[in-house]
Amino acid sequence: MRAIPTFLSLVLIVACGDPDPIPLDPSDSTGPTDPTDPTGPTDPTGPTDPTGASCVPSRAAFEDNALPAIERNCGTCHGETVAFGAPYTLLDYDELLAGEAPDRRVDRFVEVLMDRTMPPATQGLVPHNDLDTLVSWGSCGELHPDFADGLSASRPIWEAPPDPPAGSTNVDIRANGEQIGPNDIDDYRYFLFSNLVDDDVFIRRMEAIIDDDRVVHHITLRELLGLNYLYTWAPGTGPIEFPDGGLRLKRFDTLLMEIHYNNGAGLPDVVDSSGLRLWVDEPAGTEWGMAAPSVYDISIPANSIGEASSTCDPTREFDILAGMPHMHETGTDLVHMITRSDGSEETLIELSGWSFEAQYFYEMPTTIYPGDRLTLTCTFDNPYNHTLTWGEGTSDEMCFNFIYVTPPEAAFQCLF
Ligand code: HEC
Repeated sequence: MRAIPTFLSLVLIVACGDPDPIPLDPSDSTGPTDPTDPTGPTDPTGPTDPTGASCVPSRAAFEDNALPAIERNCGTCHGETVAFGAPYTLLDYDELLAGEAPDRRVDRFVEVLMDRTMPPATQGLVPHNDLDTLVSWGSCGELHPDFADGLSASRPIWEAPPDPPAGSTNVDIRANGEQIGPNDIDDYRYFLFSNLVDDDVFIRRMEAIIDDDRVVHHITLRELLGLNYLYTWAPGTGPIEFPDGGLRLKRFDTLLMEIHYNNGAGLPDVVDSSGLRLWVDEPAGTEWGMAAPSVYDISIPANSIGEASSTCDPTREFDILAGMPHMHETGTDLVHMITRSDGSEETLIELSGWSFEAQYFYEMPTTIYPGDRLTLTCTFDNPYNHTLTWGEGTSDEMCFNFIYVTPPEAAFQCLF
């Protein structure tokens, strides 16, 4: 979970239960569901000749948005005085833009960021927002880095069928003409929705509606009570759908949608109404709930790699359908193990090459019995000069596996 500013700054939108049925072109919002397939026709990262002849990145956005990120991440070597073998400075707009596309320095700049050859591996990672800002600036808002690069998981991504379940209807929750200024970098906006339905329904499926994909960095949906993640979207994420039944939505339930905007390219006059589409139906079939096994006791010494782990001993039987591992920027690996009462071990999920911007739900069809033990372990690579601990801020850490379980009361298992 990211830091939520004071609730006073939340935008309160009370939907009227009369959803606006805007036709959804799935190709707008979904993209490929396999983050490891860079060749798919709907590859979110776009073509490899990134900038093209027509793109002239904005000078103002260079000064305001890109330069601070260049200084932070590239300045040691590509500063005013070049060092450590770097060929040129990256602090001069005119030099970056000199020449003809695709042979300008800015074209190489975007390329090395997209394929992660810069900065050199020994220098650590560029924080996800800086990376998006730099690529977005250099490509005039056309490209976003492929954050799933290097990610590997022991389970398949939970993919939905192409069409929503027959008979379900959509409830759309959207930003309402958000104005995104040319200097809106790393900008989290929050939207609350309640009174979405008159009577209880089951949410059968969730998917994103992306209005201006040049500035939408990611979207999350949480329940206000508990703040568990119900769905997240970033470029490359597809819809999720319960094979049977769904998640109960009551009239007075409040959903919190967060949209992370990043206008690295400094595009003028951006107005965005992105959001999420919930496909709902009468409550029937299996009811699912969200459980959140987690590790709160995180303490990784400065500039070192370390683990944090917790165990949970469920006292009732429940089924797991799918789950979304969650860490922040410095997480590298996450493993959720089941030790059965006979001592045998099974892997619920094992992830490596974590990226904050590539958070997916994975299939985890498993039954948990009393006597089983669940052990969640996260690995963090702490780049800071201070001890890394649990917290909601970007430079704090978290370790969760948000799992859809049935019966829904099983959500109260493994709370701590
Ligand atoms: C630790 C020093 C260091 C840092 C930090 C660093 N670079 Fe470099 N960079 C180099 C060196 C050395 C070269 C030349 C050798 C090479 O290409 O690998 C280079 C080359 C480049 C080139 C030219 C590549 C080519 O082949 O045309 C680009 C573009 C570049 N860096 C961009 C960046 C960007 C963008 C960042 C920050 C996000 C960055 N670098 C951070 C050391 C660094």
